[in-house]
Amino acid sequence: MVCMNNFSQDILLWYHSNDIMLPWREKRPANPYFVLLSEIMLQQTQVKTVIPYFINFIEEFPTIQHLAKSSQERVLKSWEGLGYYSRARNFYKTSKIIVNKFNGVIPNNYSDLIKLPGIGNYIASAFLSIFFNKKIPAIDGNAKRVVSRLRMIKHTNRKLDVEVKNYLELNISKKSPGDFNQAIMDLGRTICTPKNPLCIKCPIINYCGAHKNNVINKFPAPKLKNKHKPHYFVVIGIIWKNKKILISKRPNNALLGGLWEFPGGKLETNETNQECIIREVKEELNVIIEPLKYIKQIKHSYSHFSITMSGYHCKYVSGTPKGMHPYEWKWIDPHNLTKHPFPKASHFFFNEIISTVQ
Ligand code: ADE
Repeated sequence: MVCMNNFSQDILLWYHSNDIMLPWREKRPANPYFVLLSEIMLQQTQVKTVIPYFINFIEEFPTIQHLAKSSQERVLKSWEGLGYYSRARNFYKTSKIIVNKFNGVIPNNYSDLIKLPGIGNYIASAFLSIFFNKKIPAIDGNAKRVVSRLRMIKHTNRKLDVEVKNYLELNISKKSPGDFNQAIMDLGRTICTPKNPLCIKCPIINYCGAHKNNVINKFPAPKLKNKHKPHYFVVIGIIWKNKKILISKRPNNALLGGLWEFPGGKLETNETNQECIIREVKEELNVIIEPLKYIKQIKHSYSHFSITMSGYHCKYVSGTPKGMHPYEWKWIDPHNLTKHPFPKASHFFFNEIISTVQ
């Protein structure tokens, strides 16, 4: 028979003796803005990737008021490369709501938090437990893996979520629920890893059903594969007019929304690269161009899709960009490219563009 209290005590003991210092944990007393920001950045992204972004972000936007007063463009520039850009757009919107509607104080209750853009069940639970010490389990991928092994849960998806939630609600520390949640996440990240878990170092090995039965690699049960990640062939134009180039902004509701890009689009069947770039620029911006010189082809994989992107230097011929909704546009000096947030794939063309004007 597993003794519940000891499980939570043992993992907390490990957490406190380990004292893994992460930048959002350093401030005492904790800063609620840092806690919320860290949870938003950490959703979908590993701790080691988040750390430098978090440090730069709080340097640029030290308080929620600084963030709310800034522009979406500056926020996206700070987020550039971290991916899942809707997190940045939503957090920016949320900061404005918190400043304008909640006097700059992040709500201390689930029902207000969950209504804020980009705040779902996981973030609300993690924030309330870590900052307000509320007894709510925060269930991320780490927690699901740890509990599925502890309890040998064979289910995937919703059924797994329900069992994990039930188990954690029963076992969460009453005194330190935030530390308990973070202990489970730290354990999942450092010891109870997806592959080759370090069971001999595990502070809760005695409670682990999968370890006892020597079936640790069978848990969690493999998920039914999600939809295949689509691959697109895309052509872009570096459109020149008087040593300036034309850039356009992706609509907020699109993938990579709010980032700037070089005009272009998806290659259609039976279309050449040149035909594609001429058609796309006419459709999106009502501008006539002439492709002049092939630059190169790159491949890149984003979180939701991957692309093969071919780039061409192009000559502007005629037409005033219409900036037809939802496309914004502007002509920029190529030296100012890095002042704008761009998707990763566009960055692969920066050197070729800048070397043209040196
Ligand atoms: N992953 C998501 N939130 C976390 C946190 N607060 N600590 C460690 N890993 C996390």
